[in-house]
Amino acid sequence: MIVVGAQWGDEGKGKVIDLLTKQAEAVVRFQGGHNAGHTLVINGQKTVLHLIPSGIFNDAKCIIGNGVVLHIPTLLDEIKSLQTKNINIENKLLISSQCPLILPTHILLDEARENALGNKAIGTTGRGIGPAYEDKVARRAIHLMDLLDPVIFKQKLRNLMSYHNFILENLYQTPSEDPEKIEDLWLSFADIIKPFIADTTDVINTMLVNKSNVLFEGAQGSMLDIDHGTYPYVTSSNTVAGAASTGTGIGPGVFNKILGITKAYTTRVGSGPFPTELNDENGKHLAEVGVEFGATTGRPRRCGWLDIVALRKAIINNSISHLCLTKLDVLDGLDKIHVAVEYEISGERYSTMPNINKDHLSRCKPIYKQFEGWQATTSGATSIGQLPEQAKQFISSIESLLSTKVALVSTGPDRKDIIVLDKIFN
Ligand code: GDP
Ligand code: IMO
Ligand code: MG
Repeated sequence: MIVVGAQWGDEGKGKVIDLLTKQAEAVVRFQGGHNAGHTLVINGQKTVLHLIPSGIFNDAKCIIGNGVVLHIPTLLDEIKSLQTKNINIENKLLISSQCPLILPTHILLDEARENALGNKAIGTTGRGIGPAYEDKVARRAIHLMDLLDPVIFKQKLRNLMSYHNFILENLYQTPSEDPEKIEDLWLSFADIIKPFIADTTDVINTMLVNKSNVLFEGAQGSMLDIDHGTYPYVTSSNTVAGAASTGTGIGPGVFNKILGITKAYTTRVGSGPFPTELNDENGKHLAEVGVEFGATTGRPRRCGWLDIVALRKAIINNSISHLCLTKLDVLDGLDKIHVAVEYEISGERYSTMPNINKDHLSRCKPIYKQFEGWQATTSGATSIGQLPEQAKQFISSIESLLSTKVALVSTGPDRKDIIVLDKIFN
């Protein structure tokens, strides 16, 4: 099963992956990098994961596939911090030898490009993600396997860094980085990371042949996809479910269930169009009650009503078979709840997010359906019977507006705050 974000990221993927991993033998990250921030809360204890798959608190194998751009210092920090929580990584974590590496100069380039864009900046996480994927596509990336051969690594590092330094100094007039300073430090990572390096395609394939349940963990969200999102205000990878195939080396024929995660409202971090954004008391309610601050950068998240028009596109782009609705509890206490069911753009109505210039999208007027709120708490509910009638009505309306089954409803940050409506794992 593939689990993807159906909005602009931060839908609660980490929480859902953690709880689904109970029934899985492996969890695999297949794209993105440490721009992701996936939060787990287990018995009140919070952990934010950036690179290690969100199943690590279970017994399953945790695999980082070839589609992930890898920043080794972040990975090592994450391993250390899990070890202080007595989480065993050995024999559990596997990393594809084909992951492209994120170097310090990728991060400098990300910052320099954002600065140069001024008020048109993307609002990236500043983690070097875009420049690292650019190098992959331009066929000059350094792969994790290159680190295991000092001669190859040094040569590739010098070539790549001289190219980066040229751009930093000449195009952006910013300080560059000395390859000599980097190479010994990075080569010292090789011995630490070597035991985790594997042919992950082979490992995953063997598990699938043996009928094991393997979960594929998306990062970011559908609307941040490099092809299908609100370009250029997107991330630099394909975030849609199809990337689970290219980002692991497993062909698309094995994927049958695709779980799309959506909040009961919408958030977005960074710049770009956001048709249902709220700058009023309701927006303040969502931000405050939802504690909407980025798990990676700490930036406040922009908040707005649920956007069915965008979700319809996500369902198509990902073949979403089931939905998980998170943060229902954040709507508790609102008088009226709105949901965008159509967009009006230059006099035309659209029921699915259209492929138009994103500047035009920012001028679109959402057409809302209004729901009665509920003055009761859904926080921590674990069965549908515990929900007020209006909340049940809200969930079933979302199902019919999207013609897609809501299989899970999340009612709080903790692993235990979940309503299972459909057993998606068989
Ligand atoms: P991810 O990137 O999709 O894994 O999501 P993030 O971890 O970035 O953001 C989701 C935030 O919402 C985290 O702080 C979670 O602990 C929290 N969260 C997840 N599900 C729920 C829920 O149902 N209710 C509430 N109140 N918080 C939730
Ligand atoms: P998770 O996996 C939310 C956003 C950034 C910016 C754009 C490009 O936690 O849902 P990048 O650094 O990727 O080049 O930034 O994408 N972005 C995210 N927003 N959640 C994420 O990950 C994100 N990863 C990147 O804010 O708008
Ligand atoms: Mg996140």
